[in-house]
Amino acid sequence: MSAEPTRTTPYDLLGGEAAVRQLANRFYDFMETLPEAAGLRAMHGPDLGPMREKLFQFMSGWLGGPPLYFQRADAKCFGSAHRPFPIDAAARDQWMLCITRALDEMPLSAELRTLLDVSLKRTTEALRNC
Ligand code: HEM
Repeated sequence: MSAEPTRTTPYDLLGGEAAVRQLANRFYDFMETLPEAAGLRAMHGPDLGPMREKLFQFMSGWLGGPPLYFQRADAKCFGSAHRPFPIDAAARDQWMLCITRALDEMPLSAELRTLLDVSLKRTTEALRNC
């Protein structure tokens, strides 16, 4: 009899729900306060509260944890959620700046950090539409 195989996900390695919440919240804290991210902030609605929850929920599933975002009745496909916005290289870089600052605060292994950096760079580049 072999034991049930265990799968370690980036979600677990990051620190589970509390850590993913921290990442999403700190991302928006930086978006709200960094002058370099003012363009990205202006693309968002006035109240970032709902976005803090949505990004936490999306990242939970994206990192291999519970797919909370896609359990929402108002979930959108990732592409169509971003299509209405003009996402150029500057917007992409501002998004990366905020997430990088948030990740810098977390005690991650070099391996996990590299995995996240590479995946987020690919994902944000894929959203660029102008
Ligand atoms: C290329 C850089 C990106 C830009 C410029 C960008 C911009 C935006 C904007 C303007 C919105 C709408 C905000 C609002 O309704 O107030 C949005 C929604 C969202 N973004 Fe991004 N985003 C980027 C990358 C990402 C990435 C990499 C993720 C996830 C890993 C992500 C996850 C989401 C989610 C979950 C929503 C909510 C969609 C909904 O309304 O249900 N975004 N984004």
